[in-house]
Amino acid sequence: MSSESLLGLRRNRINAPLRNLVSSESLNPKKLVQPIFVAESLKAPEKMSSLPGVFRDSQDSILSQIESDLKNGVEHFLLFLVPEKKSDDSIPKSFYKNVIGSIKSKFPETFLWVDTCLCSLTTHGHCGLLDPKGRIDNISSVKRLSELALCYAESGADGISPSDMMDGRIRSHRNILDSNGFQHVPIMSYSTKFKSHFYGPFREAAESAPGYGDRSSYQIDVRNREDSILSSIRDTEEGADLLMVKPGITSIDLITPIKEQTGLPVGAYQVSGEYASIAMLAENGFCKFEDALKETWQVFSRAGASYLITYAARRGKEILG
Ligand code: PBG
Repeated sequence: MSSESLLGLRRNRINAPLRNLVSSESLNPKKLVQPIFVAESLKAPEKMSSLPGVFRDSQDSILSQIESDLKNGVEHFLLFLVPEKKSDDSIPKSFYKNVIGSIKSKFPETFLWVDTCLCSLTTHGHCGLLDPKGRIDNISSVKRLSELALCYAESGADGISPSDMMDGRIRSHRNILDSNGFQHVPIMSYSTKFKSHFYGPFREAAESAPGYGDRSSYQIDVRNREDSILSSIRDTEEGADLLMVKPGITSIDLITPIKEQTGLPVGAYQVSGEYASIAMLAENGFCKFEDALKETWQVFSRAGASYLITYAARRGKEILG
């Protein structure tokens, strides 16, 4: 827990949806987080062929999507913002403010997490800024990411979700939030995030595939157990409120050890490639989509996950019964 922060454990007690998410109860629909995409270039929602039931929304259509999700019992949303123009030197603040502001003013009851990363914004699709030699520049990246975190909080985001994997981002976000009156805004860190082949459909949705190279200089190597655990311990020390493993399927063994070593709620992100694989099996008649999804959710829960981020959160009530 960061010592500079004015709030510590109270941040996870701040309102009912957050208490529901981090409770020690077993899996139930209130522990599911629904990812949503808003693309500035869109005028109407766009279906994602690889992710049945998932859409890329326009600034208007996201409001009706959320309205229907709320009716289906979703309390937590994880928003990915996809700007129309790529930029390595500035943040499209008005787009961010408009989307977050309109969601929160229409639906104050939602708990809106916003993903902080640069891959949908940069010209090269990497999660940080690059130095002249094309290497990640950690310091300027964290500075830009923290500007994003502050912009999101000022726009009304309830929580910040850093997915970039730069060093020191959690401390930097906590500091900038605290010094601007956002001590109550929790940080859900993608604390154990692997470099993975299961992010493909997401990158299409977020227009965020790296233009060259891959993410192995900042995302964790699946072969490295020590780094996987250390990364979550480090984020805890820097002030994260909730931790996450990702992809869920390749991290099942790490959930309980991370929980034991940090004492924080640990969630699992069932990523786009995991969801798409189940959908493809189902489309080919090899399983029933809802039953197979439920099975995976039960396993995440068995492994100790406090909450789940899944593209089928909006069907949680129906699937969990
Ligand atoms: C951004 C980010 C990614 C995901 C969430 N945030 C992709 C990546 O790291 O390339 C993946 C989510 C999914 O596949 O569902 N850094």
